[in-house]
Amino acid sequence: MKILVTGKNGQLGRSIKKFISNYDHHEFTLVGREELDLSSSESISKHFDTHPHFDVIINCAAYTAVDSAEDEIDLADEINHLAVKKLAEFANSQNAKLIHISTDYVFDGKNEFLYMESDNPNPINVYGKTKLLGEKGVLETMFNNAMVIRTSWVYSEFGNNFVKTMLKLGYEKNEINVVSDQVGSPTYASDLAKAILHIIFNDNFNKKSFPTEIFHFTNIGETNWSDFAKEIFKLSNLKCKVNPISTDQYPTPAIRPKNTTLSKDKITNHFKLQIPSWKKSLEECLNEIM
Ligand SMILES: NC(=O)c1ccc[n+]([C@@H]2O[C@H](COP(=O)([O-])OP(=O)(O)OC[C@H]3O[C@@H](n4cnc5c(N)ncnc54)[C@H](OP(=O)(O)O)[C@@H]3O)[C@@H](O)[C@H]2O)c1
Repeated sequence: MKILVTGKNGQLGRSIKKFISNYDHHEFTLVGREELDLSSSESISKHFDTHPHFDVIINCAAYTAVDSAEDEIDLADEINHLAVKKLAEFANSQNAKLIHISTDYVFDGKNEFLYMESDNPNPINVYGKTKLLGEKGVLETMFNNAMVIRTSWVYSEFGNNFVKTMLKLGYEKNEINVVSDQVGSPTYASDLAKAILHIIFNDNFNKKSFPTEIFHFTNIGETNWSDFAKEIFKLSNLKCKVNPISTDQYPTPAIRPKNTTLSKDKITNHFKLQIPSWKKSLEECLNEIM
């Protein structure tokens, strides 16, 4: 199979790259902003006009700066919505399959239970709104052969993320304040990368045609940012004290949803996936960082 991966310098793109040597009988092409600029429809058209056919496109690229998106609405929309629709159109025209990554921030967070794929989205910030429009771009363009995978709280040994920020603060400070009233599930990017690679070589994906659907993927279990920070310090033997605070005490430009814990039953059943708990995966990532 010929597989195109966008966002090669991001957390998920780099995590996929870690594992592709296990699939050396398939041809992976990883592209970043330099080769395929998703903020430019010309760059997208040029890329697909000048490159060979792909069997699978995995879109890991996105505008992910949640707070900056409140000011850069057009840019976020271009990358998270219009470019995604264009990728879906190209996938359709090439008869390629598409895996597009989306977010828990398509929900308003008012649910007291786990969010199912069938629950109504209602984003409360610009990032979430543009990602929801991207999902719609896929669903309305490709009735078949696409998957939208929503994930949440992604961290890894690569780039900037909550785990690496906490490690830095944990070494520098004796105590920190961390929000405790936002609940969700952390996702180790390596686990999502392994799941995506498992899926694209699974029989349910390799059928001639399958209906386009949304799936949820995060690590198993839920937590809040404050307890997540405590676990990072515990596993790293850092003595930094974590003071739980409320969202009101830590205002940010973008409003965050309160509870975005996602149900993983659909993806685990459909693709026979086993997903590790968030604590086990956090330990694995910390070992990787150390
Ligand atoms: N991070 C999270 O907590 C989180 C939570 C829920 C869902 N997600 C979703 O998960 C997916 C992967 O996220 P991630 O954490 O791997 O994100 P990331 O580390 O921020 O990587 C995103 C990548 O997109 C690339 N990109 C941005 N603008 C681009 C453009 N105009 N053209 C081409 N590429 C561009 C970036 O390129 P540069 O490296 O050149 O900047 C970066 O490599 C995304 O769809 C994201 O929305 C993430």
